[in-house]
Amino acid sequence: MTATVVIGSQWGDEGKGKIIDFLGQSADVTVRYSGGDNAGHSLVVNDQKLALRLIPSGILAPNSICIIGNGTVINPATLLDEIKELNGVGVNIDHLKISDRAHIVFPYHILQDQQQERDRSKNGEKIGTTNKGIGPAYMDKMQRIGIRAIDLLDNETLEEKIAFNLEQKKRILDEDLWNQLPSLKELTAQYIEYGEILKDYITDTSYLIHTNLNDNKRVLFEGAQGTMLDIDHGTYPFVTSSNPTAGGAATGAGIGVTKIKHVIGVCKSYVSRVGEGPFPTEQINEVGDRIREIAHEYGTVTKRPRRIGWFDGVLMKYVSEVNGLTDLVVNCLDVLSGFKELKICTGYQTDHGVIKYYPASEKELKNSTPIYETLPGWDEDLTQMTTYEELPANAKNYLKKIEEITGVPVSAFSIGPDREQTIVLNDMWSD
Ligand code: GDP
Ligand code: IMO
Ligand code: MG
Repeated sequence: MTATVVIGSQWGDEGKGKIIDFLGQSADVTVRYSGGDNAGHSLVVNDQKLALRLIPSGILAPNSICIIGNGTVINPATLLDEIKELNGVGVNIDHLKISDRAHIVFPYHILQDQQQERDRSKNGEKIGTTNKGIGPAYMDKMQRIGIRAIDLLDNETLEEKIAFNLEQKKRILDEDLWNQLPSLKELTAQYIEYGEILKDYITDTSYLIHTNLNDNKRVLFEGAQGTMLDIDHGTYPFVTSSNPTAGGAATGAGIGVTKIKHVIGVCKSYVSRVGEGPFPTEQINEVGDRIREIAHEYGTVTKRPRRIGWFDGVLMKYVSEVNGLTDLVVNCLDVLSGFKELKICTGYQTDHGVIKYYPASEKELKNSTPIYETLPGWDEDLTQMTTYEELPANAKNYLKKIEEITGVPVSAFSIGPDREQTIVLNDMWSD
């Protein structure tokens, strides 16, 4: 029995999809445990590129079971588009399962998301959400009025539940947004149809995961977003509305924390962020522009340019503790080739000294100045390398520095978007 959790250790888009596809080749089960179609996970296999939103990135492993867990929020329209796209490129999704406890996103959630962003913009405080209705769907879950996958299978009560929700939303939504909603009848018919199409996939996935763990199978848990977007541990309020951290795997999939053997933090060799919010090591200059262009740093979901910054050791130390990381995977090492010097942030200077904790206060974070250590860069193209030994000495030193700062071993690193461009240093399935 091995349960391995993969989490994002920055602000999302660290390359989790690529690593989950890679590790998924040797997994029996892959489980998405949080978030919704705000996620965009890219995988590249034999020059074929896929961007997955809800379906676990282990879907390309033909014999593994892929689960969308109870901790997620599912927009059925996106899911069906994704299924169609996968079928179109010959990927079979018979091995997909959807938790009967997962919550469902409705059009009113998306309108509510728009309204909240519109309101916040008036004070110059918008979050820059993906506008997929994720926050409002989780709000309804917490408010105990959410509609779950199991409800799509009960036509008698579905209409009642939607009617109740529409009453609530009418009180909340501005008239122009409310007027964009389909009628109760239309909405119910649409979601009954989704239920019809998805009914064979909907099941008690927690039970399925336990059965597999008890049968000594390898189960891989796929985080979405990243630790710094976590509702509790991220840069609140500029976060998402779920727990992408490792603890979220236990609640979002329905397993005990004691089952988890490895917690793998995926990071880039630098940092990126989309949306608003603090970002101490951000480089709004030629360094940021250069990395953005080399690495095509534009959002998978929203196509927004990603903000870019130097590797942040303070953040990574915090993230390693919040998640209990056992392994690190460093992606995009190839992107740093050609820089004469590289910088890594090793401390935050504030008006009350160098701080040892990650500030909860937005103000304190804004007033934190990164303290950088400068490391020599390298010129060599890394993209064709197949072993650690081939790396230039300065690239090895860069990885060593990351290990030293975080206290977590680099168990793999990546030198290009393709599955094959992954170099493994430690077994991430060991007991
Ligand atoms: P995710 O949301 O964490 O799965 O990450 P995204 O897929 O949104 O963004 C990561 C981007 O980096 C994708 O375009 C990947 O193809 C790309 N990528 C991942 N690993 C590497 C790497 O080692 N080198 C380069 N150049 N690109 C990478
Ligand atoms: P993956 O899984 C990067 C960001 C949004 C916004 C904030 C809240 O691909 O790493 P939301 O729509 O969730 O309410 O938006 O979170 N965000 C992401 N940023 N990668 C993601 O997912 C993200 N999912 C949400 O840009 O700042
Ligand atoms: Mg992404």
